[in-house]
Amino acid sequence: MTVQAKAKGADYGLGPHTFPRGWFVIAEACELDNGPIGITFFDKDMVLYRGQSGRIVLIDAYCKHMGTHLALSTSASIVKSGNQIVGDSILCPYHAWQYGPDGTLENIPFDDVCPKTGSINAYHAEEVMGTIMMWHDPEGQGPDYEPPYLPDWDADNVVHWKLDHLGEIPLHNLEILDNICDVRHLGPTHGAPCEYFENEFRDEVVIQRQGGFLDLYQSHLDTVTWYTGPGILLSKQTFSGITMFEFIVGTPVRDGVTKAWHGALCYSANVPPTEADIAQARELQAGVLEAFATDFQVWAHKKPALKVMQTPKDGNFRAVREWASQFYMPREEAKKIQQKYNGVLPVKDFPQPSMEARNAGFEDNCFKKRGEK
Ligand code: FES
Ligand SMILES: [Fe+2]
Repeated sequence: MTVQAKAKGADYGLGPHTFPRGWFVIAEACELDNGPIGITFFDKDMVLYRGQSGRIVLIDAYCKHMGTHLALSTSASIVKSGNQIVGDSILCPYHAWQYGPDGTLENIPFDDVCPKTGSINAYHAEEVMGTIMMWHDPEGQGPDYEPPYLPDWDADNVVHWKLDHLGEIPLHNLEILDNICDVRHLGPTHGAPCEYFENEFRDEVVIQRQGGFLDLYQSHLDTVTWYTGPGILLSKQTFSGITMFEFIVGTPVRDGVTKAWHGALCYSANVPPTEADIAQARELQAGVLEAFATDFQVWAHKKPALKVMQTPKDGNFRAVREWASQFYMPREEAKKIQQKYNGVLPVKDFPQPSMEARNAGFEDNCFKKRGEK
């Protein structure tokens, strides 16, 4: 059954673009192990596969010849015989027109011509931390920031996440992003009333630093959580002597409908991790998923908050939503919004983190870019 949107981007007055610019998760990398898959995001049907060189390829789904979906004819002879992928190119299952990884029509097996108009669109996608992320840009330009990356993903004492696929929810991405400033829900919803809180904006990144006593674990919980762009959240969490990273991502499928995934990157006692370390990591992921599921349940049933009735000591919804509007605007406009908000933003009359909490090793790990030492 198709999930129906309750509100669309334009209803929130975010900007001229229906879908945001940025990096978004579109699949778990292991989904490509059995060949091309068909996906729909940003109201566009696309085909995603790994070429024989290992290159990630993302192109429009439909063949220009007669409109065949390039990935959904699993019983076609060339698909069943494992001959659909040739190098990094893909053959249409109907008459074997060949498309290159940049969408160029490269060959028509029964003809000598290759009309230029036969080519299809290709999109920029990369494998990042066990996922496939695409750069979505309504203006058709390349990335102007890096996808998020945890340097400890490459450490030998970690257990990588195996993503929870949470499916589609009838909620605009913006209402999930609201969580980054929502200081007042942490007690009622998660049983961990906040003792200190602040947001910080850094261009395309918004950060939340908070901590409080977590009833469930009878332990103090400290978290630093950040969105890189509007769809990818990472959160470093410390509680009961454990440190781990939570990963929550949401990608627009259609206007007002979001697909979500969840994972946890955990440290292991042994190198390499033992079966027991892996089991413990899965258990931790399930535990944090339970906390996230509480938000999810609220979202599944709520009415859209086209405007938040933000009282003076409430979370920074207005600021976060205006910050988020940069992704729905042309790039020049986005810069102005970044400049307006860059810096720390506390909640009125609410304690901010101590310098100790701010510097608890979070910065070292969290905001490095790929390749930085
Ligand atoms: S429909 Fe794709 S080659 Fe004919
Ligand atoms: Fe929450």
